[in-house]
Amino acid sequence: MQNAECRSRVNQGGGRRAEGGGQPGAENGGQRPENGAADFRPPGCGLRPPAWAHLADELADRLSRESVIRRNEPLAKHTTLRVGGPAEVYVEPAGEGDLALVLRFCRQHELPLLVIGRGSNLLVKDGGFPGVVICLAQPQFTRIEIAGQRLHCGAGARLKQVAVEARRHGLAGLEFLEGIPGSVGGALRMNAGAMGGATFDVVESVRLMDYSGAVRECKVGELAVEYRSCPMLKTHIALSAVWVGWADLPEGIGQRMNQFSRKRWNSQPAAPSAGCIFKNPLSIPAGRLIDELGLKGTRVGGAMVSAEHGNFIVTDPAASARDVLGLIDLVRGRVRAERGIELETEVEIVGQ
Ligand code: EPU
Repeated sequence: MQNAECRSRVNQGGGRRAEGGGQPGAENGGQRPENGAADFRPPGCGLRPPAWAHLADELADRLSRESVIRRNEPLAKHTTLRVGGPAEVYVEPAGEGDLALVLRFCRQHELPLLVIGRGSNLLVKDGGFPGVVICLAQPQFTRIEIAGQRLHCGAGARLKQVAVEARRHGLAGLEFLEGIPGSVGGALRMNAGAMGGATFDVVESVRLMDYSGAVRECKVGELAVEYRSCPMLKTHIALSAVWVGWADLPEGIGQRMNQFSRKRWNSQPAAPSAGCIFKNPLSIPAGRLIDELGLKGTRVGGAMVSAEHGNFIVTDPAASARDVLGLIDLVRGRVRAERGIELETEVEIVGQ
């Protein structure tokens, strides 16, 4: 049985904080790809129609008061594409203890689980996510601490902030993060990259939690790393990472960041998007391919292939996830038919 106080801790419909304190919900400020979305469903679990309100109350009862928990949280506001339905339950754990507790709770009740970062590489379907969505947006997970040439960054820290802190402390090598609108956790999961740099080029170690709540530290050499992927982070959640830079003058670092920023603004759209929607095939960059096929400006409902960069789909306020998915299918179909190339989405598609 839930008592009234416990019930009152879970907000309905999103937008407000759960009673108990903490930081505002994850913001995404019109940004793009990160995102480390880890979508986990324990093997063999058949999803029973769960009594979500009851489950949310029960979970709220177990979490510390600093954690945030909401029901029916619109995920469109947690993604940079700005489309998609709600999460049954949305949680911002206050720290590692509460995160482990949420993971064990989901396992115990066989609930689908999705970990999101800044939602910049995430497409949530219009029916929303029928489970628990975790966002590491609370201060325990967003810290950036500098020690010599190392930056210790929580998984929820913004990449832009990491780049700015590195510049402020005269640490070079992380300039490319400036334009990636994701979080540290998302960048790790995606091995995000830009301007010739990639996350795992400059990460030394990662702190991880498995879905039973056990924590371990991994040196980068222990992790398999691929183009836009770190497979270990499909079965583990990144908690933090140590990045290493090298000493340089902040002015020089700032100049390189400005140069990257100008290049990005000149070649990529400012409208809401999830960054590059497809991975680059080995033979040709997806953007050039889509451009060559004359698909820029192609529209499905409120979603359009960007006129600035062929590998971006931009959305207007009326867009739905269905529009974006329809446009992805259309582009993939044309590329398959005309060039025999199978485009693979870089953006993670979740929900129902
Ligand atoms: N190109 C065209 N037409 C277009 C777009 C691109 O001809 O509409 C050409 C460009 O002129 C260039 C080539 O295609 O010769 C590659 O384009 P670009 O330099 O923009 O790089 P990209 O491979 O399309 C990658 C990353 C971006 C990152 C940029 C800049 C991938 C899938 N994308 O894009 O990352 O910002 O490099 O470094 O690896 C993301 O991953 O979401 C993302 C935005």
